[in-house]
Amino acid sequence: MLEQIETQVAHIERDDPAPEMIALAADVLQSGGLVAFPTETVYGLGANALSVEAVARIFAAKERPANDPIIVHIHETEQLNLLARSVPDIAFQLAEAFWPGPLTLILQRSDRVPDNITAGRKTVAIRMPSHPVALALLQTSGLPIGAPSANRFSRPSPTSAAHVIADLGGRVDVVLDAGSTDIGVESTIVDLTGNLPLLRRAGGIPLEALVSLLPELQDHPEYLPESSANVVSPGSLLRHYAPQARLLLFEGPEEAVVEKMRAAAQRELNSGQGVGILAIDDQARYFEDLPVRIALLGHNEIEMAARLFAALRELDQAGVDIILASTPPISGLGRAVRDRLIRAAEGHIQTIQR
Ligand code: TXA
Ligand code: MG
Repeated sequence: MLEQIETQVAHIERDDPAPEMIALAADVLQSGGLVAFPTETVYGLGANALSVEAVARIFAAKERPANDPIIVHIHETEQLNLLARSVPDIAFQLAEAFWPGPLTLILQRSDRVPDNITAGRKTVAIRMPSHPVALALLQTSGLPIGAPSANRFSRPSPTSAAHVIADLGGRVDVVLDAGSTDIGVESTIVDLTGNLPLLRRAGGIPLEALVSLLPELQDHPEYLPESSANVVSPGSLLRHYAPQARLLLFEGPEEAVVEKMRAAAQRELNSGQGVGILAIDDQARYFEDLPVRIALLGHNEIEMAARLFAALRELDQAGVDIILASTPPISGLGRAVRDRLIRAAEGHIQTIQR
């Protein structure tokens, strides 16, 4: 059992973070503690990235397997030279174009980086977040901060401080609460250590925005069963971001999808199951006559990204047994939303031709 500690929750202004609050959190990081803080994507569970002991506390708090490496957050591009070696020019060009922002680069690691944060790999993942609270914390602490999403392993990522507290209350020293995060899906991860740049995770920077600098970027989403040996990115495991309820995904022309979803909802209701629907706003009316719980995702893929994880948690809280959802178009943030839905559904996707 993990020892319970007192978790201090501090409200902080997103656009004007109080320096004394940031200083307090920076102190906690410097003395090896854990600080959950908002980034523009999701909340992170931060620790001093250069301290083996502090990083070990992240793994323990999250119950994260030791083979799953953690992203290092920085506030100045020059820190790349401390944490990585043989940094290719393209990394600096990408940093120039997209940092601060939701892009993570995988590079060859330097010796300064502790083994546990990279899970023993020769590579390290690095990003510069744009959230004012995250940047202030990085600047004031002067530390590179290792931070995975601040959820328990395989749960939906947290987009509010309440989500963090639900998963990690009593396991983290400080939670900086600046309200909901903006983007709602995690950073895009690009691996620059191979012969060709590889999209390891679709995320906050759309693929379409990267191709001008990375015309050969390959998108190879991997949906790996739990048992896979030698997983490069354990985030690519199939079961990830999963709600407690089962999730069923439907893909195809909208009308046919709605019809299938209604039929599935009826079937589940008839067998006594509590049913939740993840619906874009315009679809909700097709389900309103059914005794189902509807969580709204907004009108477009940007709103869907912002609301997806909160909606999954909301349906879990409502105690539904099964969640039905449809996939968004793959453009823009839709690629990341679709990817998270497939993982949350553990691959249970029904494709409807017509
Ligand atoms: O937006 C984000 O990236 C958030 C915020 C807090 O910055 N962080 C985040 O961290 O999503 P996490 O740990 O939940 O996801 C990081 C992913 C994991 O799938 C991990 O396996 C992968 O990045 N990763 C980290 N270092 C890696 C490396 N050296 N090689 C391959 N994959 C790596
Ligand atoms: Mg995560």
